[in-house]
Amino acid sequence: MRTALKLFAAVVTTVVLFLGGFAAYIAWSFSKASIDTIGKVDFDRPLVIPPLAPSSVDTQGVRTFNLSMQAGETDLGRGGPTRTWGFNGAFLGPTLRATRGEQVRVNVTNRVGETSTVHWHGMHLPAAMDGGPHQPIAPGATWSPHWQVDQPAATLWYHPHPHGETAKHVYRGLAGLFIIDEANEVALPKTYGVDDFPVLVQDKAFDGNQLDDTHGLFQSAGILGDTVLVNGTPGPFLDVTTQRVRLRVVNGSNARVYRFHFDDKRAYAVVASDGGLLPNPVETNELLLSPGERAEIVVAVRPGERTVLQSTPPFADSNRFTGDTDRLDILELRGAAALRPSPAIPAVLAPAPDLADDPVAATRQITLNGSSTNFGKMDMGRVDIVARLDTTEVWAVTNSDGQVHNFHIHDVQFQVIRYAGASPPPVLAGWKDTVLIRPGESVELRMRFTDFADADSPYMFHCHLLRHEDQGLMGQFVVARQGEAVGGLHVDHPDDAATQVTTGHAH
Ligand code: C2O
Ligand code: CU
Repeated sequence: MRTALKLFAAVVTTVVLFLGGFAAYIAWSFSKASIDTIGKVDFDRPLVIPPLAPSSVDTQGVRTFNLSMQAGETDLGRGGPTRTWGFNGAFLGPTLRATRGEQVRVNVTNRVGETSTVHWHGMHLPAAMDGGPHQPIAPGATWSPHWQVDQPAATLWYHPHPHGETAKHVYRGLAGLFIIDEANEVALPKTYGVDDFPVLVQDKAFDGNQLDDTHGLFQSAGILGDTVLVNGTPGPFLDVTTQRVRLRVVNGSNARVYRFHFDDKRAYAVVASDGGLLPNPVETNELLLSPGERAEIVVAVRPGERTVLQSTPPFADSNRFTGDTDRLDILELRGAAALRPSPAIPAVLAPAPDLADDPVAATRQITLNGSSTNFGKMDMGRVDIVARLDTTEVWAVTNSDGQVHNFHIHDVQFQVIRYAGASPPPVLAGWKDTVLIRPGESVELRMRFTDFADADSPYMFHCHLLRHEDQGLMGQFVVARQGEAVGGLHVDHPDDAATQVTTGHAH
């Protein structure tokens, strides 16, 4: 009897402890789930400006860069060193810069001790040079992709893309900008580090001094950190010496959607999106940017003033477990006592995307849900879409999930034709490669597949919330010549099966 009582007491105690622990975990997750750093960040470090990567041009005119992926330690303001990864340094990477028309080569050496890849996000280039999951770089190996830059001036970026490991490799610090220039660009601030600045925004969570890459039970989007780094700088300020500055904002975060605005809600001009300049500048005081997306903004600063770039809840129906209720201080701009003049922002920036009247060769329906598309989870041996060279397609992409996703396509920049049941807003009027899709919403995208037919090398399309991508919310497409058979890879959904052919081929 006494033994039975003891046993009963022990069971009760265990159950109480377990329930208590679970309740405490829920309470902890809940408190952890909302972050508010507004007014709490000491902007006490000058914004680090990534160096421009050195390059050499050979007698054939090929511009060659060297990138070394390596591990190191970085001062991220934790009072001790943080173990990080970087290109040519301990954290992040230099800014690559090339001009439209140039031949480029990048020698990428992997010294991180794990197989990885380097993908040129936003670049129009052959699939074999794209740096997706099919171009692994083994530890110690060097991969040397080369291509001709042939697309409008734009702010692109580069980062690893090994299947299933992308979130981890990017989070540790492997990311950098790739800026494309063009002859005869319109007059905008364009002196790197003087009136034209990279602003690579990434949120990090810490466990002591080290990066914490765990995420809460309810954080299906992945890591959401309470420390926002800009170009790897915690608590950054930027001394502004000209009347206007151009900020090339890259959302290089794993999961976070930002709604960027200044503390005084001042208006600024959005002049470019993912694929380059917008047709016209868009004046706004806030801008949504989901992971992978870029925007170039031009903001005016008055002599001697300070203003803080912030992010506050991106959506009205905010969800605290996806970071949607977080309020963040990001970057302080400090106007010098006297500012040098800046050019006025031109009213016309670039030709608008022109695919709306193209004949449509195929219309694809793509659904994003959980960690798969309607084609299933990512399978490196399966091709989901076969696009034909020199045709224009419509991809109708639906987020049929209860959580935020976005949609990124390699190789091409697309035109947004419809956005959430309406004409796209002016900030989506330019070329894009990544687009935010809120729960239940759909977008209609149009893209033209020119160049680089290669039936054996797939390009990726995927959600750029990196945990979703790693878990399988990714698919593959190839660009093949008209009538060419697609061999090598197994094609689960040959174009005519996955497609309603709405009109004939484009030519
Ligand atoms: Cu920035 Cu497929 O990625
Ligand atoms: Cu997603």
